[in-house]
Amino acid sequence: MHTQGTSSQSLTHAFASQPANDTEAAGQMQALVYTAEGKISLQHRPKPQLIDAGDAIVRVSKTTICGTDLHILKGDVPTAKPGRILGHEGVGIIDSVGAAVTSFKPGDHVLMSCVSACGTCEFCRKQMYSHCTTGGWILGNTIDGTQAEYVRTPHAEMSLYHIPEGANEEALVMLSDILPTGFECGVLNGKVQPGSSVAIVGSGPIGLAALLTAQFYAPASIIMIDLDDSRLEMAHKFGATDVINSGDGKAVAAVMALTKGAGVDTVIEAVGIPATFELCQKLVAAGGVIANIGVHGKPASLHLETLWDRNIAITTRLVDTVTIPMLFKTVAAKKIDPTLLVTHRFSLAEGEQAYRAFGNAAETKALKVLITP
Ligand SMILES: NC(=O)c1ccc[n+]([C@@H]2O[C@H](COP(=O)([O-])OP(=O)(O)OC[C@H]3O[C@@H](n4cnc5c(N)ncnc54)[C@H](O)[C@@H]3O)[C@@H](O)[C@H]2O)c1
Ligand SMILES: [Zn+2]
Ligand SMILES: [Zn+2]
Repeated sequence: MHTQGTSSQSLTHAFASQPANDTEAAGQMQALVYTAEGKISLQHRPKPQLIDAGDAIVRVSKTTICGTDLHILKGDVPTAKPGRILGHEGVGIIDSVGAAVTSFKPGDHVLMSCVSACGTCEFCRKQMYSHCTTGGWILGNTIDGTQAEYVRTPHAEMSLYHIPEGANEEALVMLSDILPTGFECGVLNGKVQPGSSVAIVGSGPIGLAALLTAQFYAPASIIMIDLDDSRLEMAHKFGATDVINSGDGKAVAAVMALTKGAGVDTVIEAVGIPATFELCQKLVAAGGVIANIGVHGKPASLHLETLWDRNIAITTRLVDTVTIPMLFKTVAAKKIDPTLLVTHRFSLAEGEQAYRAFGNAAETKALKVLITP
């Protein structure tokens, strides 16, 4: 198995260092900015202002880094251009709201969805918020994101969620993106069912979120596959029935041994490189589903010569975050504990270190790194 271009290994060490000036000029804030391929730097930026009536400005209290941010640094996401403040996850306090925002007011404690939704366009009416014609995944992509002291959140009414008093902020940061992503793109699209067999390729935060939420459906087995033993060890703690380190190129044989040669009913791709998508095609059972989650920057081969007669389905999805309200309840009821995913904590000023820790997870054993502005 080849391992070129894995998101956690390819992050260069060339983080441009631009030390923050501690004296906060009026109307200025600190932010983590994608400056060039492989480079992120802490910069002073003007505090965002309301632009549209549906906007809110949120003072960020906790944010985090996603595998997708690493893909942006690799140049895999061409819509995210250098100069962009990164980040699409977080919780915070409303600072100001536009005239059309009635459900939120300054001082409210809110969770920000990684996807902005107008609620009224053709796609929003189908609950495909990720394809909202004036929103979708724009935060930290086509508009400035949450790895900053303040962020402008468009379509605030549909894209923010009230946080009840006493809720654990660290747990809720995991609801902006990774839990809905693992659940919607992996578990729901992959049709995980009671008694079924599941393999998840990639035991990063997203793969682990799929592992946690797959257990809502009581599948008989969940096999986790990764190159990193410490992430696999974590997967064991999170409920994986079997773990496989695919570094020896024998993952297919190991899965076939566990499934009596049948393969698995659901294979979830949670890495985002050609090698892992191709591996999934070798693991799926007849009648099964390959549910792709990974963000892919390069073409991957589709082996129709072996799959055409296997009655399989392949799904792709950009997370819609339609399940945030439901996941909120499962967290509140302690059915899942997302704080298990938090391994490191940094201030915003230490943001470049946070990226290094997350990007070199094999050494640092990082899963989710929390950043407090
Ligand atoms: N579809 C969506 O809406 C959506 C949303 C969020 C994230 N994502 C994507 O999900 C993917 C996972 O995100 P993450 O935050 O967990 O990323 P991550 O980089 O932290 O984790 C990826 C994991 O894959 C493992 N890996 C790398 N190469 C491998 C290989 N050849 N074989 C087996 N395992 C390998 C790594 O060791 C790591 O544990 C990324 O591609 C991310 O961009 C998609
Ligand atoms: Zn993300
Ligand atoms: Zn819309």
